[in-house]
Amino acid sequence: MGRDVIIACDFASAEKTFEFLDKFTGRKPFVKIGMELFYAEGPAIVKEIKARGHKIFLDLKLHDIPNTVKKSMAVLSGLDVDMTNLHAAGTKRMMEGALEGLTRPDGTRPLLIAVTQLTSTDQETMEADLLIKEPIDKVVMHYASNAKDAGLDGVVCSPLEAGKVHETCGEKFLTVTPGVRFADGDIGDQKRVMTPAEAKKIGSDYIVVGRPITAAEDPVAAYERCVSEFCD
Ligand code: C5P
Repeated sequence: MGRDVIIACDFASAEKTFEFLDKFTGRKPFVKIGMELFYAEGPAIVKEIKARGHKIFLDLKLHDIPNTVKKSMAVLSGLDVDMTNLHAAGTKRMMEGALEGLTRPDGTRPLLIAVTQLTSTDQETMEADLLIKEPIDKVVMHYASNAKDAGLDGVVCSPLEAGKVHETCGEKFLTVTPGVRFADGDIGDQKRVMTPAEAKKIGSDYIVVGRPITAAEDPVAAYERCVSEFCD
């Protein structure tokens, strides 16, 4: 898989999701399904979107004991998703278990991406709530290295961290980056943003874009703009 734009389908129901996806009559975008939609609609939503010809990033951020994660990943792999994720904080053993569970009998598997520290966690909260005293950048790179050692394909990170992740873990280690906005767009609640063109320049492999596409007056045009700035 090469560089691609993933649309965050942060809708509360299947109805709203399909109303949105119906607009895409040409190229079928890669879509991200998160916890809200998955918990509301169950595995059926994944199968239906897949049947419509979309690639799927199932963003459920698993974190549990290795055996539970391994078995759960086997279930997700059976849904034929293209990419899924977990929390690197679950340890290397959990990540190795996840990879094992995800690998299908024929040896194929979805891409597996780790979340390092959530962007909602800052240095202060990490120190106070998690008792982690190291600088947050160091923690992020350490978790990324753990993910690489465990055999994962990449990490979710800010576009601003993508260059450093590639330096630490190699060019082939994937960076999946949210926090993308058009130069002339509204940044909403995101704090550290980049345009699709900047994300391309810094070496992001996948950008995850929600509201700049889902809330646009013409979502298909906004998607095409992302593709032309990021992929072409
Ligand atoms: O609408 P917007 O483009 O901000 O959506 C970004 C998507 O990426 C959302 O689904 C959000 O939950 C997700 N995300 C994020 N920051 C992270 C991890 C995931 O914005 N650090």
